[in-house]
Amino acid sequence: MKRVLVVHFSQTGQLARVVHELVSPLARAEDIELVEEVLRPRCPYPFPWPFWRFLDAMPESVLLEPPELEPLTVRPDEHFDLVILAYQVWYLAPAGPAAAFLQSEAGRALLRDRPVVTVIACRNMWLVAQETVQRLIRDAGGVLRDNVVFTDRAGVLASFITTPRWLLTGKRDGLFGLPPAGIAESDIANAGRIGHALLGALRDGRERTAASMLAGVGAAAVDKRLILSERAGRRAFAVWARLIRLAGPAGAWTRLPLLALFCAYLVAMILVVVPPSLLAQRLLWRR
Ligand SMILES: Cc1cc2nc3c(=O)[nH]c(=O)nc-3n(C[C@H](O)[C@H](O)[C@H](O)COP(=O)(O)O)c2cc1C
Repeated sequence: MKRVLVVHFSQTGQLARVVHELVSPLARAEDIELVEEVLRPRCPYPFPWPFWRFLDAMPESVLLEPPELEPLTVRPDEHFDLVILAYQVWYLAPAGPAAAFLQSEAGRALLRDRPVVTVIACRNMWLVAQETVQRLIRDAGGVLRDNVVFTDRAGVLASFITTPRWLLTGKRDGLFGLPPAGIAESDIANAGRIGHALLGALRDGRERTAASMLAGVGAAAVDKRLILSERAGRRAFAVWARLIRLAGPAGAWTRLPLLALFCAYLVAMILVVVPPSLLAQRLLWRR
């Protein structure tokens, strides 16, 4: 009997659905004990997000100053053969609850000396967040073995419209001919293939070897065009985050003027900088 811990948090239920489909082959297997830990922030995040609250989440997300979590239901000293950590990306960083888990004593104890598989469901910019998560897993003494990624299929520019609309209004449907926000239903329905591959790997004892457990199943497609934009975005967000933190703690009204400036910066980047840089990179990668 092997024990697998799956840790996740979801606001709209999207990541929870991905996780449940993904682990369903493990949940059905008689030789696997699957334990689920749902992360619960002490002060829940609102959904849909009020506009200012959405912007106000940026500094603490980027600076990895996560929210407090309710105590975990698993004991930190419990043994697991594999830990699956599912998270979404907030402002190019791991979402608050995942960052809290990764930096907590209990989370670090659960990851120590364990093979870890990360699962991401986000709009489409996850590369630098995953670099951060990889570092935090390593700092905790865990070993990142594989990464699975689910992203919106809408494309970079369309999802800059549909995703904020979904997060700020709760409306997920397509708009002006654009596809609906979020992960495609067919991608969610197909997530079980990852769980089947993990089940096979666990039965062969491959979680204890260095080889990938998910080779050949198309777990994560890297969009090389986004690497430069993400790195530049992370540097800029770090500057904004430190500046806004100087104006007060999360929720303080004194942050509002700087948040308004940050919002203007974001809109300008999306309208003015992102389209030509995507075009330039498309031409560059083609050569
Ligand atoms: C505050 C905030 C910031 C976000 N920033 C990003 C981002 O930088 N990159 C990205 O691909 N998705 C981003 N998203 C989208 C989320 O990763 C995720 O797809 C969405 O919130 C739905 O997740 P859920 O499972 O919690 O409902 C952001 C969402 C929120 C709420």
